[in-house]
Amino acid sequence: MIKIKSLLDYTVSYEKSINSPENFWEEIALKFKWRKKWDKVLDWDFELPKIEWFKNARLNITENIFEKNIKNYGNTNAIIWEPNDPNEKSIRITYNELFDLTCQFANALISTGIKKGDRVIIYMPMIPEAAVAILACARIGAVHSVVFAGFSATALSDRINDCEAKAVLTSDGNFRGEKIIPVKNVVDEALENSKSVETVIVAKRTGREVKMKIGRDYWWDDIISGKPTVHEAEEMGSEDMLFILYTSGSTGKPKGVVHSIAGYMIYAYYSFLNVFQYENNDIYWCTADIGWITGHSYIIYGPLLSGATSVMFEGVPTYPHPGRFWEIIEKYKINQFYTAPTAIRALQVYGTEPIEKYKLDSLKVIGSVGEPINEEAWHWYHENIGKGNCPLVDTWWQTETGGIMISPLASITPNKPAHASLPLPGIQPIIVDSEGKEIHGNNVEGNLCIKFPWPSILRTTYGDHKRCKETYFSTYPGMYFTGDGVKRDHDGYYRILGRVDDVINVSGHRMGTAEVENAINEHSLVIESAVVGYPHDIKGQGIYAFAICNESSKTKENIETEIKNLVRKIIGPIAKPDFVQIVPGLPKTRSGKIMRRILRKVASKDVSNLGDVSTLLNPEVVDQIIDGAGLKTN
Ligand code: WT7
Repeated sequence: MIKIKSLLDYTVSYEKSINSPENFWEEIALKFKWRKKWDKVLDWDFELPKIEWFKNARLNITENIFEKNIKNYGNTNAIIWEPNDPNEKSIRITYNELFDLTCQFANALISTGIKKGDRVIIYMPMIPEAAVAILACARIGAVHSVVFAGFSATALSDRINDCEAKAVLTSDGNFRGEKIIPVKNVVDEALENSKSVETVIVAKRTGREVKMKIGRDYWWDDIISGKPTVHEAEEMGSEDMLFILYTSGSTGKPKGVVHSIAGYMIYAYYSFLNVFQYENNDIYWCTADIGWITGHSYIIYGPLLSGATSVMFEGVPTYPHPGRFWEIIEKYKINQFYTAPTAIRALQVYGTEPIEKYKLDSLKVIGSVGEPINEEAWHWYHENIGKGNCPLVDTWWQTETGGIMISPLASITPNKPAHASLPLPGIQPIIVDSEGKEIHGNNVEGNLCIKFPWPSILRTTYGDHKRCKETYFSTYPGMYFTGDGVKRDHDGYYRILGRVDDVINVSGHRMGTAEVENAINEHSLVIESAVVGYPHDIKGQGIYAFAICNESSKTKENIETEIKNLVRKIIGPIAKPDFVQIVPGLPKTRSGKIMRRILRKVASKDVSNLGDVSTLLNPEVVDQIIDGAGLKTN
């Protein structure tokens, strides 16, 4: 049974997935197209870590999107593309057409010398070419690494250098609301510090003039011109790399999360089908950007492996008006709508008037992802968008998990506001205390770990396996540690409480505090800095930076603004601090560790119950920081 249709099915599937995981996943795997089947379903050791699913099998993921099913749904729309400007024509691409485009671009990539195993950076807006680029890489066995097109040149070049990418795919600009973002210029700047890149392919979108470097840069249209629209898929090993996706952690440098082909494919498909309860001919829309894992698993791979129609939106929720999402739902008669709490909260501000103009009765399922959804936003979304009768799937997962781990299955497992609820079949969550001891029973709280592999678990962090082990498999040996705190309520439903490490979740995007601090410390007048998150009405968490500057900064105006802009330049707009406070010192323990707990209190403007600060190396600094923030202790 692949598609779960009742609560009983769920219970039976879950039991089976725990009692005999190999049989459970093998049965699902048999539905796919393989060049050669596996010798063994699963080999694993979380200590190393080593995780291998469908050992020694051979396949190509795009054959499972195209060749496997094209006879059945070749004329179905694979992608419906909605442009930033509602007056521009939308584009519908059938599976047959997407197949041709993928093969043609695969041939173009090959013609530039890209081959199996090479890394290709995709730094593109939400245009159909981005989907084609991803699929074409998979077709030829090149490893794609999509970098969100809002990242800066420095962030882009760090990622290019980390994976020694051979090519960068980009566009002549991005339309985003009223703005045009000159991404090609960013690529040019990044490439001044990235020597591995031999080829840049530029899709035309804005028509703006860009510099093209002869021998390196090619227009997309020129390079595909005359290329055949057929291309035999490269035969890949099940554990070969499908993609790298960089994500922030508690240390300074983003890490390249590696996903391999077969396990990711099976889990993206299985989770998509079951969480959203997608049915043939439904129109599904996920508002994420392909630069994040949500875009990979639930705009591209999950839906396309299921023969679904996936809507891809170039723009932003409030352009040209705050009813844009609802207008699109009406326009395409969307059945499943998947977005982020931060978008919901941003739209909540405009009230219900922008919603009332549109018919939303096509909706069957609404979803949420990226951060804990607060109860108020949950109810607003459920009532005003779901009209009280659509299941709201609050899906908890991570870049590293590849697919949705804990979530209601629409209309099947019960909905509980602000609860991700129950694990999907195959997922074995465990709550541990700070010593790693399992906390049993209900109505308990602790750190969320997963104790058994699922097919789409990350395999390594690119070029640094030790880091993968340290980050995810060492805190609690023998388990995968998520970095999240969780509560299991009296009914056994999971509620994610947020990160327990030095990671902030800004608008559903992960930022490492160390990464932001490193950027701040680049300022010539900054001596030391500390960054914390604080509750933010729309973004979920905002970024608050404390910086110690040297004497000469005293005569300098606007150093706070300079610091903010520097972070924006080094990482990108999403990392720009909301506040910068210049402080005379940072509260340190006797071992020299910054006591962030105090800084978090100041940032959230709640300095009651600061706890005992007398053990600090420099207790006097606490009052100075509180004063500087314009707060008072009582
Ligand atoms: C972190 C992962 C998964 C794709 C988007 C973000 C938080 C994610 C939820 C949710 C509560 C959530 C967690 C997680 N998170 N979804 N439904 N409820 N928290 O991917 O950048 O890898 O971030 O996002 O803290 O660890 P990511």
